[in-house]
Amino acid sequence: MDLGSAQRSVLELLGAVSPGDLPALLDWMRTTRDFDEFIHDNNDIILKNIAEDLRNCLPLETMLSSEQVAIQKIKQQPQPIIHIDAFLYDDDFIDSLCEKGKMSRNYCMVCGSHQTAPLRFISHSFSPLELKFIYQHVLPDLSGKVLIDVGSRLGPVLFVGYLYSSALQLHGVEMNQDFCQLQEMIIAKYKFADRIKVHHANICTQASLLQNADVVIMNNVFEYFLDRSEQARAWEYISHNVRKKGSLLVTVPSLKESLSNLQVCQYFGFLNPNCSFFI
Ligand SMILES: C[S@@+](CC[C@H](N)C(=O)[O-])C[C@H]1O[C@@H](n2cnc3c(N)ncnc32)[C@H](O)[C@@H]1O
Repeated sequence: MDLGSAQRSVLELLGAVSPGDLPALLDWMRTTRDFDEFIHDNNDIILKNIAEDLRNCLPLETMLSSEQVAIQKIKQQPQPIIHIDAFLYDDDFIDSLCEKGKMSRNYCMVCGSHQTAPLRFISHSFSPLELKFIYQHVLPDLSGKVLIDVGSRLGPVLFVGYLYSSALQLHGVEMNQDFCQLQEMIIAKYKFADRIKVHHANICTQASLLQNADVVIMNNVFEYFLDRSEQARAWEYISHNVRKKGSLLVTVPSLKESLSNLQVCQYFGFLNPNCSFFI
């Protein structure tokens, strides 16, 4: 049934309800959770469509020539790594690529032999499942709150936040212009601009945005993209500016692990007692 016919059917049904029961029915329609299933199913379809739109604009490995630092760092790893974006490609999709011979989950350890080892996969995005878990089970109700995704890349944190949370504002800060343009494309197509804003900037220039944040998300944001001294500087900048009372910081990997190789304060909370951490 198309939208017009569905709307006519709903109006017809409402016209058939006895006048005494109509206010209670309308109230139920406004407040019931019985529609959640339909709304969430539709949100999942929107996320799948967004992923398809982005896949059509990007190479399979979802890395761009404009991110040479990250490409070089991945090449320097001792074991081969496959980069596959968890927001764009789920496990079924990867299996189908392997079946078609376009990807492998293993690599040959001795060229020409049958000795193989599993390849390490990394993703530069959260998967939809991880993000739904964060919004539905980790974070509190975000009504009236301001969330920042540091290094928003393709925008999944923002898009899932728009569909699955009541956050008032969702800000993405991304230093790579190509990725900012892709996020803008999705925001315009899916009409997300009333709550999502993308800033093409280094996070180390965004003091007032950080100071106003209720939630700051940081998913593997610096490790592959900045050298060690830049990483240390960025962490210190964040620790000095995320200071709103009750603000929450969500980091992957844990804060301890993120800071352990850098010469910065080992315990972030030491610098900023206003902030809590979910790791
Ligand atoms: C691993 S991705 C995070 C993706 C996304 N937040 C998610 O969770 O799905 C890290 C992103 O951070 C960006 N980035 C790294 N350092 C940054 C900085 N100092 N300021 C802004 N963006 C940065 C990189 O360009 C990259 O796109």
